[in-house]
Amino acid sequence: MQEKELKKYEEIGNWDFSDIQYIVEQESSWDFYKEIAKYSNKNSLLLDLGTGGGEKVLSLMPEAGMIIATDFSSKMIETANKNKENFPNKNIKFVTMDNLNMKFPNNLFDIVTARHTIIDAVQIYDCLSNNGILILEGVDKFDCWELKTLFNRGQAFNDKISICQKDYEDIKNAGFSKVHLEKIIQYEYYKTENDLLALLLKTPILDDFSELDISSKNQIEKDLFDTYVSTHTTEKGIELKRVLYGIVAQK
Ligand SMILES: C[S@@+](CC[C@H](N)C(=O)[O-])C[C@H]1O[C@@H](n2cnc3c(N)ncnc32)[C@H](O)[C@@H]1O
Repeated sequence: MQEKELKKYEEIGNWDFSDIQYIVEQESSWDFYKEIAKYSNKNSLLLDLGTGGGEKVLSLMPEAGMIIATDFSSKMIETANKNKENFPNKNIKFVTMDNLNMKFPNNLFDIVTARHTIIDAVQIYDCLSNNGILILEGVDKFDCWELKTLFNRGQAFNDKISICQKDYEDIKNAGFSKVHLEKIIQYEYYKTENDLLALLLKTPILDDFSELDISSKNQIEKDLFDTYVSTHTTEKGIELKRVLYGIVAQK
């Protein structure tokens, strides 16, 4: 169990960024929800892993017959159930469950989705029906790389093998027949310093939750932050280059 991460996500209690003002410019055309829409229909049974406070699954997930959405943080699931009240017609159940210790029968789901969360490829393979589809979006080691280099730390900064490559290999080794990996580059422009700071304080971009001391609060060094802002301020806002990846795999 990832105790430090769980503690941090319990403290945060939602994955809502609507207070942060920023715009996104996509360099790649791959889109997580558009990919899901290619496979999902009104009869699909869909599992969304590490769903957070349900913010995205409630508003962006394409049509499905039934959605089960899980998270190991019971605080996140509590938030998700509150958020669900604004989507009375969505056929969705939120359940507290660890992605690394899933409790579903084999061959159950038509589609499993996972966005920015840890996965166990073998457990996903087992709970997917034959020809079932896994769609995931992950955050790569090289995400926000200039920022991480300046601070000399950050999520996956010291990983020997990039997360993207590891997920790809784990999924192939789990037995999936077709596995497609796509690199996603996008530029985010934060309206003010406070918007960027709010992002960095809430997410594990700089202070990887798995490495945080449970009692410590994450600290953003002001001098380094100011250097980043002064060297990355553009007409559109403060630029942050995101490096993500998408994987679509068929059982
Ligand atoms: C970065 S947030 C992403 C939330 C949501 N998928 C989204 O894209 O907005 C990661 C979520 O994964 C959850 N998580 C992390 N490790 C987990 C695990 N082992 N089992 C289940 N959920 C986990 C966290 O509690 C958190 O809500």
